[in-house]
Amino acid sequence: MRIALVGFGGVGKALVKLLSDKKKSLLTQGIDIRLNYVINSREGVYDPMGIDCGSLLKHVEMGGQLSRFTQGVNTPVSFETLLKNRDVDVMVEATPTNRESGEPGLTHIRAALENGINVVTANKGPILLAYRTLNRLAVSKGVHLCAGCTTGGALPTINAGIFDLAGSNIHSIEGILNGTTNYILGRMEQDNLGYEQALAEAQRMGIAETDPSLDVEGWDTAIKLLILVNILMNEQRTLDGIRVEGITRVGRDDILRAKKEGKTLKLIGRAVKTPEGIDISINLEKIGEDNPLSGVNGTNKAVRYVSDSLGDLTIIGGASGTIPAAASLLRDIINLGRGYRFSV
Ligand SMILES: NC(=O)c1ccc[n+]([C@@H]2O[C@H](COP(=O)([O-])OP(=O)(O)OC[C@H]3O[C@@H](n4cnc5c(N)ncnc54)[C@H](OP(=O)(O)O)[C@@H]3O)[C@@H](O)[C@H]2O)c1
Repeated sequence: MRIALVGFGGVGKALVKLLSDKKKSLLTQGIDIRLNYVINSREGVYDPMGIDCGSLLKHVEMGGQLSRFTQGVNTPVSFETLLKNRDVDVMVEATPTNRESGEPGLTHIRAALENGINVVTANKGPILLAYRTLNRLAVSKGVHLCAGCTTGGALPTINAGIFDLAGSNIHSIEGILNGTTNYILGRMEQDNLGYEQALAEAQRMGIAETDPSLDVEGWDTAIKLLILVNILMNEQRTLDGIRVEGITRVGRDDILRAKKEGKTLKLIGRAVKTPEGIDISINLEKIGEDNPLSGVNGTNKAVRYVSDSLGDLTIIGGASGTIPAAASLLRDIINLGRGYRFSV
């Protein structure tokens, strides 16, 4: 398979590293992935014979610019070059998430699909805002839109819903979809820390970002839950009007009260089908041992599906970080190559 990578930041670089590290083992399984383009916001590299991933990483690690990488075609390379040449099977989109406009990813994904190129994306923005339209476009062009990385990364959430719950009617989706908040709540409970202390600890360990608001205010959970709802329940819901609670106001007393009741506090995203429509909420909840989500600890995440014919299914785990995120992109690329039909 010939691929183009658009977005060469943390996740993009981790994908190039995986392609380099796993090249031999993938080849022994008959999987030949050739990276033909790497493009960021200002420059790019193109080699129709396949870029040497190891050499490219060494070049940038030593401070080299993408456009100065000597291997390949020696003319300026941009996203437009990729559209003009149309010589790849898959575009991997890994530019920053913008939850208001979806750009620049939305334009990249739409253009690739219109040009008959499969898309594998890490970018939540376009999937949150326009999955149904983009998926229809993919179907009309006979290609596929793979978004497995956008919710849970290594934790199979979307693809488990598409492939493993096929034929069932999903009544509810419940999840711990943000590893950072789960870690903070866990540290508060286990080590009797206050919220600020636990957050500082998570930041020191690189688990929480310097500006943690997207995670701790619940928005990351909300975006991921909406992506699941829109893809698996065939909706086109937006963040407007969704009840979103974060963890910023949780105190030691709340944790202790829950503990006394034999319960644990978790940030839960929940979507339930009701006669009036799908009820969506992100709440800090006290849950007991009877709920499989109560045992989800550390930076782990989980998703629980309840469906009519396949029953109650919970998936727990999934490492966080750029390597696991890139590994989930690689998983989609491989499954696409194996003929999985992501867009139907
Ligand atoms: N980090 C994670 O663990 C993780 C997990 C799951 C999903 N994601 C998602 O994966 C995506 C990438 O995350 P990241 O952490 O790798 O972000 P990042 O480090 O900020 O990298 C973003 C990359 O996109 C490039 N870019 C920006 N605008 C572009 C444009 N118009 N055309 C081409 N390239 C452009 C940037 O290039 P310049 O440097 O030239 O600006 C940079 O190389 C995000 O959507 C994120 O939400 C991340």
